[in-house]
Amino acid sequence: MSAAREPIGVIGTGYVGLVTAAGFAELGSDVICVDIDAEKIARLEAGEIPIYEPGLAELVESNRSRLTFTTDISVALERARLLFVAVGTPPTYSGDADLSAVHAVVEAMPASDRHALVMKSTVPVGTGRAIKRLFEEQGKPGFRYVSCPEFLKEGTAVGDFLRPDRVVVGDDGDWAGDAVVELYRPLLDAVAVPGEDPLDGLVRTDIASAEMVKLASNAFLATKISFINEIANVCEETGADVVEVAKGMGLDDRIGPKFLNAGIGFGGSCFPKDVTALKQLAGNSGYHFQLLNSVIEVNELQKRRVIGKLEKHLGSLVGKRIALLGLAFKPNTDDMREASSLVLAARLQAAGATVTAFDPIAAEVARPMLRGVVLSDDAVSAVAGADAVVLVTEWQEFRELDLGELRGAMAGDVLIDGRNALDASVAASAGFRYEGVGRRPQAPSLASTA
Ligand code: UDX
Repeated sequence: MSAAREPIGVIGTGYVGLVTAAGFAELGSDVICVDIDAEKIARLEAGEIPIYEPGLAELVESNRSRLTFTTDISVALERARLLFVAVGTPPTYSGDADLSAVHAVVEAMPASDRHALVMKSTVPVGTGRAIKRLFEEQGKPGFRYVSCPEFLKEGTAVGDFLRPDRVVVGDDGDWAGDAVVELYRPLLDAVAVPGEDPLDGLVRTDIASAEMVKLASNAFLATKISFINEIANVCEETGADVVEVAKGMGLDDRIGPKFLNAGIGFGGSCFPKDVTALKQLAGNSGYHFQLLNSVIEVNELQKRRVIGKLEKHLGSLVGKRIALLGLAFKPNTDDMREASSLVLAARLQAAGATVTAFDPIAAEVARPMLRGVVLSDDAVSAVAGADAVVLVTEWQEFRELDLGELRGAMAGDVLIDGRNALDASVAASAGFRYEGVGRRPQAPSLASTA
């Protein structure tokens, strides 16, 4: 990579910050990573990656010479003009985003005509305008601002960074927006359709629209999931099979096949937070976003439907032993934020059941969040003596389980597949009473019986 790439600062070494830093280092920039957490910086300095993300440790390692980790923001200000902001914006009790970490960064900026903040953190629409006003009030009118929302998915974040679907840059049409576009240009070139303009993958727009692209995208995807989950629930009442239905729907290229997997609800650090934030944002500006209320409510109820299914098979859950396979909000991550397993385990315990669980990666992160849940070292130990097993997270290793062995270790025979990840007919052959989400009960697909 060319040594002429401009150095950048990245403030916040969480999930988005680290991937962004390592990604731009891979493209040839020197990257100064700043965090207020001295312990985290020390660990990063020592080569430890504090989060589990496939490929990230390797990317950091191979670009180590271009990465600086520091708690001192002045190092970044001295060496870089673009300061990417990737600090947390968690929800507050009211559902609004907590922008205190963002504001701390704004406060820490000096008056300057040669620097810009580039906002990666997901923030409410209007944040950019408010920050520019703050810069004015604080006597820093020359400080530039760019919105550059992040669309990384956990588990595939490195690939998502290096091969983005699109790059969104919202700015005031000045040098800072141009500089951000230049930084992303190699990625736009790499994913361009041959013969077409690489800048087709770029949305260069105003700041408010860029902020809204992020919130609207996540809210739309969450809506797609709640929609297919409701279709699944109706399938359960009518004898249709949601997997067949989703396949038939997804072949319509206006709909597309992605995000049509019915299950026990979405979780993670983004969807629940961003859907609520958009709902709040609309409400704060006087608009009642009816649809998003339903998206959230459907998602909450979807996690709880497992309880009804277990009661249907087992009667009262008092004294029953229920095993959960998977705890993370999705496979290939140890992220437990808003994971469906948390609600499910709590509901099961409240119903009087004993809960055991296994997750290939997330167990240690999950342990303090799951009081009273017995965590096992493997799937077979987790289900030993259980009356029922619930597949909560579709880790690949669960798809490859020997269901006969699993059934043999259990006291009961109920298998609730919360992600439609297992083969119903194989489960039935192993002696399970199998129930997926929106599936025909124990019905092998027409293709597999042909
Ligand atoms: C999401 C967005 O995809 C990403 O663009 C944004 O930057 C951050 O939020 P992520 O939280 O990593 O990424 O997870 P994602 O893979 O999108 O899945 C979110 C949740 O939806 C998971 O709980 C997953 O299990 C669930 N999901 C996803 C479904 O239930 N059904 C589906 O068809 C797809």
